[in-house]
Amino acid sequence: MPSMNPRDNGSVILAGMSETVSDAVTTDARLRLTPEVANTLAARFDTPLYVLDEDSIRGRARRYRAAFAAVWPRTELAFASKANSTLAVLKLVHQEGLSIDVASIGELAAAMTAGVPAADFHFHGNYKKREELERALGLGIGMVMIDNFEEIQLLATMNRRQTQFAIRLSPGVDPRTHQKISTGQADTKFGFNISDGSAEEALRQCRVAGIQPIGFHCHVGSQLLDPEAQRAGGEQLARFAVEMLQKLEYRVSYLNIGGGLGVRYRSEDAPMAMEEYCQLVTAAVVEPLHEAGFDTSELILAQEPGRAIVAEAGVTLYRVGSVKRTPVRTFVAVDGGLSDNPRPALYQSPYEVELIRGDDRDHWDMVVDGPGAAFGVPLPTKVTISGRHCETDELFRDVELPGDVRSDDLIQVFTTGAYNASMASNYNRFTRPATVLRRVSGEFQLIQRRETVEETFARELLPEDLG
Ligand SMILES: Cc1ncc(COP(=O)(O)O)c(C=O)c1O
Repeated sequence: MPSMNPRDNGSVILAGMSETVSDAVTTDARLRLTPEVANTLAARFDTPLYVLDEDSIRGRARRYRAAFAAVWPRTELAFASKANSTLAVLKLVHQEGLSIDVASIGELAAAMTAGVPAADFHFHGNYKKREELERALGLGIGMVMIDNFEEIQLLATMNRRQTQFAIRLSPGVDPRTHQKISTGQADTKFGFNISDGSAEEALRQCRVAGIQPIGFHCHVGSQLLDPEAQRAGGEQLARFAVEMLQKLEYRVSYLNIGGGLGVRYRSEDAPMAMEEYCQLVTAAVVEPLHEAGFDTSELILAQEPGRAIVAEAGVTLYRVGSVKRTPVRTFVAVDGGLSDNPRPALYQSPYEVELIRGDDRDHWDMVVDGPGAAFGVPLPTKVTISGRHCETDELFRDVELPGDVRSDDLIQVFTTGAYNASMASNYNRFTRPATVLRRVSGEFQLIQRRETVEETFARELLPEDLG
């Protein structure tokens, strides 16, 4: 393994990376590194390693924006930065004309550090602290999504300057996805329930407080391969807008239907194409408005996708450390785990992986062959790829790998551009991995270096009398 200076900002120029993208059409390919490129990157930057593709991210952002703009004259596309808030990613999606959805003061600071003007942010969260709201308003943030009654009272006391407001609604739609990423059903901590009158009450309270929301927002859930929930959410949003016009003479000028378009974690996953999806959700919102004679000439429609922009543009590389055959299962241990990808543990999320022969593999040929057959179990085709935490951190269960997988091979995991780097932790004092960006030029550039163990001590104060 090469010794890496953590502050090394080096880059590697490589040609011939297969199945990457150069225009909107090829955004249909998930990022996949060739064995040669994977081995070079692993040797240069160490593993685990997140790899992203600039062209692919830009292509997806461009394509989504174009698809939305093709079906409605006034649209806004925001990038849900929780998916990946690496500064370079924020910068390049903003360059592609997306505003940035932030859900914490840290995400807000990241976007500002990336040079995104505060006017181009949305601020989300079911509990925004007073000082966070003050900071956001003080910066002149573009929009705050109001999520609860206490927030209305807080905002009423603040200098709101040029910030706009939208009310987050819970439209009572139950999406078919993992329950931890379902947010639009009636029983959710996010937003104001339409069905029990909370949403209407929120609008009334805003007006009493002198806050003029420009519209409504909902986000019904994530990784929705069947977009029925977003369609239904959009429709509920529009029906509520019509009701509020009739009841309170309140006219929305902004409706945001959130993110959630699914991606291909597995080859058989078939999310709707962006073009079709934009058409579907736009019609869902606009038709009820038109039926009710609502003037939509000034209406802005908004979406805030996260994973649809970055997930398929990323892979993770791990190095295999051991192959342990038990009477029941074979475990392939890699040099990462739930600290760099908690999604399998949190949501039982499936991923697809590919074995890449490691450059140092020949060394092991004589060492491992004997013990491999110790239990008399035939060489496996299905294995469980585990991390190396003191947990049963199964990363990828029952995945197909060639039976002769062994130490020093690499594992390439597809579709990890979203909710991996941004969800990484220091559990077991693991250091968080580096991220490398394949630039449009073909050069691979470090955009986030690997954390050092020393950095994990940075916040600690050891009392003198203990020393
Ligand atoms: C309010 C909101 N908007 C957008 C998103 C982005 O979702 P996705 O990455 O699935 O598009 C999320 C995800 O949790 C969210 O909570």
